[in-house]
Amino acid sequence: PMSTLRRGTDGLQVESVSLQSIAARYGTPTFVYSLAALREAYDAYARALAGVNARVHYAVKANSNLGVLSAFARMGTGFDIVSGGELARVIAAGGDPSAVVFSGVGKSRAEIRQALAAGIECFNIESASELDRIDHIAGEMDLRAPIAFRVNPDVDPKTHPYISTGLRNNKFGVAFDEALRLYRRAAGMRNLRISGIACHIGSQLLDPAPAREATEKLLGLVDALAAEGIALDHIDLGGGLGIRYRDETPPTVTEYLSPMLGLLAGRKERICLEPGRSLVGNAGLLLTRIEYLKPGVERNFAVVDAAMNDLARPALYDAYHGVVEVNPRGAGARQYEIVGPICESGDFLAHDRSLDVAEGDLLAFLSAGAYGMTMSSNYNTRTRAAEIMVDGDKTWVVRERETVESLYALETPLPHG
Ligand code: LLP
Repeated sequence: PMSTLRRGTDGLQVESVSLQSIAARYGTPTFVYSLAALREAYDAYARALAGVNARVHYAVKANSNLGVLSAFARMGTGFDIVSGGELARVIAAGGDPSAVVFSGVGKSRAEIRQALAAGIECFNIESASELDRIDHIAGEMDLRAPIAFRVNPDVDPKTHPYISTGLRNNKFGVAFDEALRLYRRAAGMRNLRISGIACHIGSQLLDPAPAREATEKLLGLVDALAAEGIALDHIDLGGGLGIRYRDETPPTVTEYLSPMLGLLAGRKERICLEPGRSLVGNAGLLLTRIEYLKPGVERNFAVVDAAMNDLARPALYDAYHGVVEVNPRGAGARQYEIVGPICESGDFLAHDRSLDVAEGDLLAFLSAGAYGMTMSSNYNTRTRAAEIMVDGDKTWVVRERETVESLYALETPLPHG
């Protein structure tokens, strides 16, 4: 899963830095990212898109750490955001707001104002009411808002139901059959500039066919719009390419994009992509220490210092993350349930894994670069993990471990009386 993970003389290492030294220096639990792996993931997109009029807009929700965002900004990506908070992060990391697309069904007035003031590239509009709201606010600000509609192409992405977004009966996008009417309406609005069309059908996609089908449907609309004199400057095909967590065999970026690019060959509109997971997922791991081994009658438990508040995906989606011993003991493996300290039975990180470990040993949860830290919480008043970026033999603390005081700094006890 992480191409820059190797086994060295003092155990597992990311690039040239041993995880043992990271744990000793920064403590655990800690997310560890590899800059070389981020670059490699982006290069796969750059290669697949060579010679194509296209731009990658990294989906910030997958991992919004400023260190990660600044790395992508330097590689030249744009960004896909879903909140004013993410926009602020992009700007703080040195990203260019004019290469930002703004997705999401619930953009608030304040977020729309913030995005217009920053001069973002495009609003991906998800409803008729949002269209009216953006036109109105742009009018107040005496600006023209660049817009696209996120169209729901009603194709089945064949992924986990919680992360599939392109089917008719979910909350995302505007219905395919309404899109034409909405574009006509937008064309008559004074404070808007029609800029593109967008779709995103789901996440962790392992088959290029549904994305190709969505593209085909979208292009039908683009041509119908052109016939009415509504020309678009870009086509946004969303994100979604899956990664290997266990034994999945996702297509390569080129294999995934080729069918779509085939359909798009010879067109003049710029292509936008919004990948998240495939850029960061396998560039990060979660380093944790075993607090206790608890042999049981039916099952053995390994209680680690990371929990569902750090990595929610197993509890939330029953997702699988690979686990490896940082320094295997060579004493023989046993089967363990790997659980955290949180007071819920749902607080597990992995079921039935074979580990060759003792108490105090380190484990690495793989493929934790995407939707790891960004979905973390402070449940049980647990401080969020530190985040470390590895670059060759150097490490950067891209987020310090939280302090307990900071967790309640905004709270106050009631006054006496
Ligand atoms: N664009 C839009 C409009 C999206 O909604 C998403 C993800 C992306 C791009 C990026 O998709 P990606 O390339 O990462 O698949 N928390 C879940 C994943 C939720 C994805 C939500 N939308 C998980 O941990 O699996």
